[in-house]
Amino acid sequence: MRVISNGVKKVGIIGLGSYLPKKVFTNADLEKMVDTSDEWITTRTGIKERRIASVKEAASDLAQKAAESALKDASLKAKDLDLIIVATITPDMQFPSTACLVQKALGAAKAACFDISAACAGFVYALSIAEKFILSGVYRNALVVGSEKLSSITNWKDRNTCVLFGDGAGACILASVKSGGIISTYLGADGKNSHLLTLPAGGSRLPTSKETVSKKLHFVKMQGNELFKSAVRIMSDSVDKVLRKAGLSCKDLDILIPHQANIRILLAVAKKTALPAGKIYFNIEKYGNMSSASTAIALCEAVKSGRIKKGDIVVLDAFGAGLVWGAMVIKW
Ligand code: ACO
Repeated sequence: MRVISNGVKKVGIIGLGSYLPKKVFTNADLEKMVDTSDEWITTRTGIKERRIASVKEAASDLAQKAAESALKDASLKAKDLDLIIVATITPDMQFPSTACLVQKALGAAKAACFDISAACAGFVYALSIAEKFILSGVYRNALVVGSEKLSSITNWKDRNTCVLFGDGAGACILASVKSGGIISTYLGADGKNSHLLTLPAGGSRLPTSKETVSKKLHFVKMQGNELFKSAVRIMSDSVDKVLRKAGLSCKDLDILIPHQANIRILLAVAKKTALPAGKIYFNIEKYGNMSSASTAIALCEAVKSGRIKKGDIVVLDAFGAGLVWGAMVIKW
């Protein structure tokens, strides 16, 4: 790898974009498909509606649209990109990587490309990897995308899971910055609890067969209750740890951008960290849980709507299947 420049002190986000499929799928629509109610979904999860991609749209298509918007926001062209990382658990296919498909769609010919699999924490993991490439001087401009078509791995007959998920993509461009930027990162994992949230078949353990299809092993399997408790504990702990690494405390935080899995998880995190709910960004009501795309889209919306202003201390906080988690402090 060729070192482009030395002396990069800070890496920051210089452009953001998001894409949500047009189709809105409401709780009332779900009531017609499974034994559920708007009341149950709203009180247990905080979700009112979610977006569902069309049959023609795959994760790379959603990612491409979010990436184009982020490039425009950063006033860069696709040819300026040195690196593309896509965080996804719903890649277009096992291989090639979705990042390579995004590269082709954008025309970002000189970019190195790979995907990472860190479920709902994928966007934060990918940001951290891209930051290191830029800090080391290897690359100048990196595109990081969280893109998911969770509707493609959802069992629409299982009320335990189908009410939770949605589709979307969020993207950002990272580069060296003179002020602000990423201050600290905290990443973690707990493979002992990998069984709590899985997509069992389609990999080398259980290759696709008539049996795996008939047993519905190509859909998300989740132990929601156990995950709930882990999510509250780990997301609260991550906020404390990442702020401490930055030499800051909760009092310094202007806004928390959490992974949007369940409103009750986020309110419990607020209570545990003694953060006022007003300092937390919520959009779960509109989109449900979009795994790696959730944090990316929430960050993009918070910036574009003016909730995040220059100089603000922003904390990203994500948790998901693996188990994996990632938090990041960014000065805007
Ligand atoms: N409508 C109506 N009733 C339902 C529904 C539904 N959609 N889903 C479940 N129920 C029923 C259950 O059958 C159960 O009934 P029973 O008591 O008669 O057995 C009852 O409601 C309670 O079920 P629980 O699973 O205990 O409900 P809970 O309050 O735990 O909520 C939920 C479930 C929303 C899934 C919650 O546990 C949760 O949000 N968990 C965390 C999810 C998460 O964080 N995932 C990680 C990130 S996702 C990723 O990485 C891709």
